[in-house]
Amino acid sequence: MIDENEEYVVWDKRYAVGVELIDKQHKELMRLTNVLYESCRNGKEYSVHVFKDTIKGFVDHATKHLPAEERLMEHIGYPDLAKHKAEHQGFLKEVLTDIKAFEEGKSFAPNALARFMHDWFMGHIALSDHRMGEYLAHIKTKQTLVWDKRNSIGIEAIDEQHIEIFKLTNNLYAAYKGEGKPSDDTFKAAIKSIMVYAGKHFAAEEALMKKAGYPDQAGHNQEHHRFIAKMDAAIKSFENGAVSAPHAIVRFQQSWLLEHIALYDHRMGAYILEWAPSLLDGQ
Ligand SMILES: [Fe+2]
Ligand SMILES: [Fe+2]
Ligand SMILES: [Fe+2]
Repeated sequence: MIDENEEYVVWDKRYAVGVELIDKQHKELMRLTNVLYESCRNGKEYSVHVFKDTIKGFVDHATKHLPAEERLMEHIGYPDLAKHKAEHQGFLKEVLTDIKAFEEGKSFAPNALARFMHDWFMGHIALSDHRMGEYLAHIKTKQTLVWDKRNSIGIEAIDEQHIEIFKLTNNLYAAYKGEGKPSDDTFKAAIKSIMVYAGKHFAAEEALMKKAGYPDQAGHNQEHHRFIAKMDAAIKSFENGAVSAPHAIVRFQQSWLLEHIALYDHRMGAYILEWAPSLLDGQ
């Protein structure tokens, strides 16, 4: 039984990676860890029952989350990817071994597993994932983005549009960095080009998802809307003369692009290639 004084994992800013989807997934893993934790306090019979359900949810979620994180690191060219991946492998191996032992009746794993997951939050998420988030924050607004084949989602027509958005994003960055005041017309024109092109590009992606019957389209569309809404608000504050607005715009635009392609477009591409490749004929 877990010590009464032992704390549940409580969300804290040191766990935040700064990527909306990743933080959301970590919160869900944390919730499931606490459910397991709780079950360990309520006696063996109860915990065996809860354990079975919770662990399934936990494994489902972890097996979605870990590859998503790895994809993001690949897309941003994260230098510690190999080490980070090895930590994920170690985690999965430990969890799956514990579950197997439990299913084969060899051991009663909930206590050990709940503790292990608790430690995972303290260790991996607070340190390794956090470092990944810092790296991402570091590359934002600090560089021109270079499209690389690691950014490919496997659909040529969409890749070409992404390459164009990288170019427009770099134009915006150049205008921001450029000869002095980002408040000039060049900056405004650069934003406008992005918004116009993004509108067309989102429509193209959404039409493709619809044709393919992509099951996660609602969440994906929502991310497109979030981009437009955030940019619109930032542009407004820029027009009202907010000094920090150009920096915020460039930062948001660059990070949204990198994160969105890695976490959303990539999954969409994989789905279409697997389930509706005929849609891509003639592209
Ligand atoms: Fe993570
Ligand atoms: Fe991780
Ligand atoms: Fe998208």
